[in-house]
Amino acid sequence: MKTSKSTSTLSIGFETQILGLGKGFPDQIVTNTDLEKIVETNDRWIVERTGIQERRIALKSESNSDFAAKACEEAILNSKIDPSEIDLLIFATVTPDHLTPNTGAIIAKKLGVPSIPTLDISAACSGWIYGYVFADQLIRAGVYKHILVVAAETLSRIVNWEDRNTCILFGDGGGAAVIGRTPEGEKSKSYSSHLYAEGGLKDLLTADAGGSAVPFSLDVIANRSYCISMKGKEIFKVAVRTLASGASALLEENGLTLDDLDWFIPHQANLRIIEAVAKRLGLSMSKVIVNVDRFGNTSGATVPTAFAEAVENGKIKRGDLVLLDVFGAGLTYGATLLRF
Ligand code: ACO
Repeated sequence: MKTSKSTSTLSIGFETQILGLGKGFPDQIVTNTDLEKIVETNDRWIVERTGIQERRIALKSESNSDFAAKACEEAILNSKIDPSEIDLLIFATVTPDHLTPNTGAIIAKKLGVPSIPTLDISAACSGWIYGYVFADQLIRAGVYKHILVVAAETLSRIVNWEDRNTCILFGDGGGAAVIGRTPEGEKSKSYSSHLYAEGGLKDLLTADAGGSAVPFSLDVIANRSYCISMKGKEIFKVAVRTLASGASALLEENGLTLDDLDWFIPHQANLRIIEAVAKRLGLSMSKVIVNVDRFGNTSGATVPTAFAEAVENGKIKRGDLVLLDVFGAGLTYGATLLRF
C-alpha cells in the first residue's frame, strides 16, 4: 500500500463491494427558462456552454440532511441489509445543516440508527470519493462490515442568485452507497485509488466567508462573500488535466486499458469538461455516464447519483469495470477504479 498521496489496495484483507446505491433530490425543478427570469441569461447559452438543462432546488422548508437521508434509505434498501447493520456513516458536504453538530449525526438519527459513529468530511466535489476510499480501506482491514458513504449538497443556499456566471451551474441533491465485503463467489473489488489536495489553488473556487477566518457580519451578507465564487476558465483547464491524467494513471498502474473499461463516471460539473476529458483520453462518450443535463453540478453528490441512476436503469451491471474520477474546490481531486 502506498502511503503518500495515493492509496492502493491492501494485499491482504477482504475484497469490497458497493452493496447498494441511492439518490435523493428535491422535487422542485428549475429550468434554464426559469433562470431567464432571475438573471440575464438564456437557455441556448447555458446548454451550449454547460450542457445543463435543468436542476433541482430545495424548498425553504428542506435541508441538506433530508436529501442525504433519502439517498441513504434507497442505498440501504438496494443493499438488502438492515439499517442496524450499518457500522459507520461518512458524510461529505460543503453545505452542512449547521456548523455544529455534524450533519452525519442528524442523518443517522433520521435513518433510525442514532448511535453509530458519524464523520463529516469537507472535500467539496471530491468528497464522496474521499469517503469511499476510507470506507473501502476500513472494510478491507476488517475494522467494519458495512459503511454508508453519502454526499449531499444544498448549494442553492450558497449561490449568489444575482451572479449569472455561477448560479446557472449548481443544483441540490444527494447520493449514497453502502460499502461492504464482497459476497463469496462474486468478482467485485476495488483496484486502487488516488487522492490529492493542492491548497495552492484554493482561490480558484471558494465560498470565502462564514468560517472562522471571515466570520459572518453585515458586510459579508451585503457583499455575499459567503457565496460561491470561481475562476471558471482556469477551473476548466485544471479539471480537464487532472481528470484525464487521473484516469490514465489508474488504468496503467493496474495493467488495464480503455478497452477493458465498461464505464467512466466523471464529476458532473459541465458537459464540455466531460467531453474534453473523453476526447483527451480517446474514450467513446458511449462509455461515459452523464446526468449533469438534468441535475446540474451537485458537487460531491454528482458521482454517486449518476452511479445510482445508471445501475437503476440497467446500464451498469454487476461485474462491470467502472472508473470514478473527480475534482473540486481545494483544489481536491482523485479517482478510483472498481469492479462493481
Ligand atoms: N448567460 C449568458 N451569458 C453569460 C452567462 C450566462 N449565464 N455567464 C457568462 N456570460 C457571458 C460572459 O459575461 C461573457 O460575456 P462577454 O464576452 O461579453 O464578457 C461571455 O458570456 C463568455 O463568458 P466566459 O466566461 O468566457 O464563458 P465560458 O465559455 O468560459 O463559459 C463557464 C463559462 C461555463 C463557467 C466555463 O468557464 C466553465 O464551465 N468553467 C468551469 C467551471 C465549473 O464548471 N465550475 C463548477 C464548479 S467547479 C467544481 O465542480 C469543482
